Amino acid sequence: MRASPDVVPSSARVVVLVSGGGSNLAALLEAQRDPAWGARVVGVVSDRAGAGGLEIARAAGVATAVVAPRDFPDREAWDRGMAQAVGVFEPAWVVSVGFMRILGAPFLDRFAQRVINTHPALLPSFPGAHGVRDALAHGVRVTGCTVHLVDAGVDTGPILAQRAVEVLAGDDEATLHERIKVEERALLVDVVGRAAREGLTVEGRATRFG
Ligand code: GRF
Repeated sequence: MRASPDVVPSSARVVVLVSGGGSNLAALLEAQRDPAWGARVVGVVSDRAGAGGLEIARAAGVATAVVAPRDFPDREAWDRGMAQAVGVFEPAWVVSVGFMRILGAPFLDRFAQRVINTHPALLPSFPGAHGVRDALAHGVRVTGCTVHLVDAGVDTGPILAQRAVEVLAGDDEATLHERIKVEERALLVDVVGRAAREGLTVEGRATRFG
């Protein structure tokens, strides 16, 4: 399937940010096979040329861009580079799925309250890069996933949706993360579709579709 950015309605346009494998990206691309879903991935941007998600995007005929920090003199310049690369696609929504860098003010100001992230823990518990490992180490019996808006903090933005996942006896980080990712992909597809179809209202930390 080839994306046609010029004919995709402005409210449907989604740019996905990936650093790694991209199973969440694959789920979004699968969802858009049904036009009723309402969103369309028009571009995929990565900080790493080797990100598996870029291959998934290319195979689906979706345009890609790489914005590598080493190509920029400093952090702020990289943020501006990211904003420019993403802005080319004129997205209504920017969806960060396993994007392992913090986005700074030059990026977030431009896409204020339109950047969605998925995190493999029930925020505000266990933010950061090791949400699954940290939850296991804490001995929680229930963890899960959170889809939220991105603000200047680390996984601190207003929550859009969450799903719980039970921790099973014998779980290690990999087995637990795989079960979380099953829920995470479904939740993300639901949230991105609703955001595109209905829009989103944000008042402080309170969010609602529509
Ligand atoms: C997801 O669990 C995401 O929340 C976390 O990294 C994982 C990315 O998975 N930050 P994938 O690359 O979409 O398969």
